[in-house]
Amino acid sequence: MTSSRTDFPAPSGSEWWRDAVIYQVYPRSFKDSNGDGMGDLGGVTEKLPYLKQLGVDAVWLSPFYLSPQHDAGYDVADYRTVDPRFGSLEDFDRMREEAHRLGLKIIVDLVPNHTSEDHEWFRAALAAGPGSPERERYMFREGTGENGELPPNNWKSLFGGRAWTRVPDGQWYLHLFDSTQPDLNWENPEVWEEFRAILRFWLDRGADGFRVDVAHGMIKADGLPDWDEQVHMVEGTDSADDAAAATHPTPGEDPEGPGKTMDTGPYFDQDGVHEIYRDWNRVLREYPGERMLVVEAWVGPAPRLARYVREDEAQQAFNFDFLVAGWHRDRMRDTIETSLRANSEVGAPCTWVLSNHDTVRHSSRYGLSSRTAYPNGIGAQDEQPHPGQGLRRARAAALVELSLPGSAYVYQGDELGLPEHTELPDAARQDPTFHRTAGAELGRDGARVPLPWSPVGEGLGFGPAPWLPQPESFHEITVDHQLGDPQSTLSLYRRALRLRHELGLGATGFAWHPLSDEDQGVLAYVLPREDGDVMVAANLGDAPATVAELSTGELLLASGQDAVVGDTLSVDSAVWLKL
Ligand code: GLC
Repeated sequence: MTSSRTDFPAPSGSEWWRDAVIYQVYPRSFKDSNGDGMGDLGGVTEKLPYLKQLGVDAVWLSPFYLSPQHDAGYDVADYRTVDPRFGSLEDFDRMREEAHRLGLKIIVDLVPNHTSEDHEWFRAALAAGPGSPERERYMFREGTGENGELPPNNWKSLFGGRAWTRVPDGQWYLHLFDSTQPDLNWENPEVWEEFRAILRFWLDRGADGFRVDVAHGMIKADGLPDWDEQVHMVEGTDSADDAAAATHPTPGEDPEGPGKTMDTGPYFDQDGVHEIYRDWNRVLREYPGERMLVVEAWVGPAPRLARYVREDEAQQAFNFDFLVAGWHRDRMRDTIETSLRANSEVGAPCTWVLSNHDTVRHSSRYGLSSRTAYPNGIGAQDEQPHPGQGLRRARAAALVELSLPGSAYVYQGDELGLPEHTELPDAARQDPTFHRTAGAELGRDGARVPLPWSPVGEGLGFGPAPWLPQPESFHEITVDHQLGDPQSTLSLYRRALRLRHELGLGATGFAWHPLSDEDQGVLAYVLPREDGDVMVAANLGDAPATVAELSTGELLLASGQDAVVGDTLSVDSAVWLKL
C-alpha cells in the first residue's frame, strides 16, 4: 500500500533555530530565588544547568519587564526595565552570560500589540486629551450614539466584555485584551520607531531572538468594521464583567479539522502586519549570530500562517494547529502534512508545540474523554482528566513532537508530564479571563502553577508560599524524584533529546509510512538518514496495532515499558526504531 500523501526533503539552511528545541520558561512559576513567592531571573540562572542537562538548545522567557501584572506581565509598563519582582537588568545580563557559556540561546518576549495602562505613553495620552499626538499612539476614537455613549464598534475583548473603555473626556480606547492593555496604533510611525529601538535594546544586550506576542494583531482593518462572528462567544451584556469571549479559539470537534476556528476578525491577520516583520527582519540582520523571531499568530490554515515565515519576515511561527489537533490520528496526520507542505513552500522550518502558558496542559487535555478536547481551564466541577491515560498519551506525543523535522517547543513542566491544576480555588485565580467573564471562563492559571523541584523544601523546592498553590499530585512528580527514576517522564525527555541530537532529528527529510493511511489508528513516518533511516510509530487507536518493523528494526526509544509487545505497538504508545 502506498501513501497518498506527499514526502518532504530535508529543509535547507543551517541556522541554529531551524531544528532547535526551545524551552519556555514562565518566569513567575519557574524558580523563586529570593523567597517572595514568585519566580525570578535569579531562579532561572540557578536552574540553567538543569536545562542544559535536559538537552534543550534555547530558552524563551515569558515577559519579565516592568508591569503591574494585570495579565502576568503581558501588560508592559516599560520595555527596557526588568520588573523588581523578577530582578534587574544586571540579573538578566548574568543569566544571559551563563546561558551563553552553557551554549544555550536566549529568546525574550516582545509585546507590541498593546502596552500596559501604566506605560508612560498611555499616561501621557490620557493627560494630553483628544486630538493630541499622544493619543495618536493608541487607538482612541469618538463613541457612537447620540452623545458618544456607545462604543465605536461592537468588538469584544478576547478576555471577555467589550473591547472599548471610555475615558472621562468621553473618548474610547481599544483593548483587544484587558482594559489595562490599550492597543497601540501601528499606523503611527512613532510606534514603529519605538519598537525598532526596543528590539535593538535587547539585541545589544545579547538576546538571540524574540517571541512576538499576538503577532497577527497589530494592524486593524480600515474603518474598524463591526464583527459578529468572534470565535467562542458567550452571550453577555456590555458591562465590563459580562461573559464573553475566551482567550483563544475552541476547535471542539470540528470535522473539518483545526485551523477553521481561528478568530478571523478584522483585528487579526491583516495584510499590513507583514510589513512589520519585513522591517524587524532588517533590524535583526544588522546583528551577527542568526537572531530570530518566532510569532504567536493564531492564524490558519497553514498556508496563511506560512506567510509570516517568508524569507524576509519572521523565522518561525508557533504551529497551533498541531497543539489543537488533540490525540487524534487523522487530525495529527493532516496537520503534519499541511504544515510541512506550507512551510516547505516558503523555505521555513515547521515548529511543533503541545502546550504553553495559555493552554490546558496536554497531559490533562489528553486525559479527557474527547480526544480533541480544548477547554479554557478545568475546574473541580468539570470532567476530571484521567491521569494515567493523559500522561501515557503525553509521553507518546513527546516522541512524535521531538522527532518531526523542524523546531520543537517544550513548555516548562512538559518534561515532567506535569498535569493541569484542576482544583484551584476561585479565590486563587488571577487570570483576567476569569474575572472579566465572571467565572464563566476559568482561564489559564491551572497551567501556570509553580514547578515542583524537590519533595523537600518549601513549595516543593520552588520557594516559600508559591503565588499559586500546588496540587497534591505534584508531590510525586518533582524533578528530584524523576531524576532518580529511569522510567520517569523526565528521563524519557532526556533520552529523547540526546538521541534527537545524536541522530540529527529535526533536520531530516520526512516520508509517510503506509501505516498512517490504514485504519489501526497508527501515525507512522520515516526520517531518512545516511546512517540508517529512523522510523517513528505512535498508536492513537483503540487497540494494539501490528507494526512489522518492531521485529526487524532496532528499538531506539519507547514511550513506556509496555509500549511494545512482540510486533505490536500498545495503545497510546510510541517508538523510535532504527530501520
Ligand atoms: C498572548 C499571550 C497571553 C496574553 C495575551 C495578551 O496570547 O500568550 O498570555 O494574555 O497574548 O498579551
